[in-house]
Amino acid sequence: TQAHSILVLPGDGIGPEVMAEAIKVLKAFENPECKFVLREELIGGCSIDATGKPVTDEVKQAALTSDAVLFAAVGGPKWDKARRGLDGPEGGLLQLRKAMDIYANLRPCSSHSPSSSITKEFSPFHATGLDGVDFVVVRENCGGAYFGKKVEDADYAMDEWGYSTAEVQRVTRVAAQVALRHTPTWPVISLDKANVLASSRLWRRVVEETMTTEYPQLKLVHQLADSASLILATNPRDLNGVILADNTFGDMISDQAGSIVGTLGVLPSASLNGLPGDKTLQTRPYGLYEPTHGSAPTIAGKNVANPVAMILCVALMFRYSLNMENEAQQIEDAVRRVLDKGLRTPDLGGNLGTKELGDAIVAELRL
Ligand code: NAI
Ligand code: MG
Repeated sequence: TQAHSILVLPGDGIGPEVMAEAIKVLKAFENPECKFVLREELIGGCSIDATGKPVTDEVKQAALTSDAVLFAAVGGPKWDKARRGLDGPEGGLLQLRKAMDIYANLRPCSSHSPSSSITKEFSPFHATGLDGVDFVVVRENCGGAYFGKKVEDADYAMDEWGYSTAEVQRVTRVAAQVALRHTPTWPVISLDKANVLASSRLWRRVVEETMTTEYPQLKLVHQLADSASLILATNPRDLNGVILADNTFGDMISDQAGSIVGTLGVLPSASLNGLPGDKTLQTRPYGLYEPTHGSAPTIAGKNVANPVAMILCVALMFRYSLNMENEAQQIEDAVRRVLDKGLRTPDLGGNLGTKELGDAIVAELRL
């Protein structure tokens, strides 16, 4: 029997409701050969109320000893005024990300994603413009301008935007591993502004060296980040592959990508510090899986939140942390069939509750 240890962090607002549905789906895959050992802990506002801290050292330690972490959402008006930064609810997530050093953030974006039918109704893109779009954004998430030195005077402010060779190498390896898992193998499309930024010139050189020495079988394309965003808006198929970007460009391109394939309630993401195929890894890779939406406090406790993003996080966890690709696809297929039948929560114009949609997805699994 294989026992997978999963740290479950429902958090605040709609977090516990959507997490309950994700766990329902997860449990449907238990059988004599495959067990999930779940440990549920507090994070965010609920952790502040109980312990005074948005995340405790004990929970951070639990994250480092689990096979994967499922995280829902944190925050809400109750804690907004009193606490900010690392002491606030979202500080719990930031601290956890730092403790796990999960430097690669993945967001899949595909016209055959489980939510493609809703995309056709809700995306600003017209239906055919999206056909055949298929890529994953891999964003560097622990370095660059968001973590560099800062100066903040009355008349001058500065953010240091720097990368080391090691930081670029490790995220390049994740992008390459994601590309290799796709059939037919994807190209890696690396975004930068090497024409104007020194950090981008190092980025481009290190990506090039890493790819040609370690992954010579993969195609590599360098794309200026500004033109990439134009292509994404006009001809997104031309970016099919793994889009690799630093923290700043990756933040922008992943939100732009999200807007063309779906709405907040259906988009999952993965944060990783490596993938199992990377031979340079010193430690077992960690993965944290979270929806791209927040805690939606105004709809919390009403059984109306859309659980799809959280449920698709379970699929990503199967794919990237637990080596369960077939099961990942079973979840994605079930979600697709349910949405295609028009079974939806109110945010997508439907009338099913959170629990009822979760039940419908479990019922559609072809185990
Ligand atoms: P939000 O994502 O919570 O909500 C934005 C809008 O989308 C709202 O209208 C909400 O009702 C709707 N929405 C979000 N998820 C939904 C779902 N699953 N089903 C149906 N509708 C959904 O972002 P907002 O309003 O900016 O922030 C609310 C709280 O969440 C704040 O306290 C914020 O700090 C926190 N937050 C936490 C994040 C995290 O835990 N990673 C990320 C973003 C915000
Ligand atoms: Mg963003």
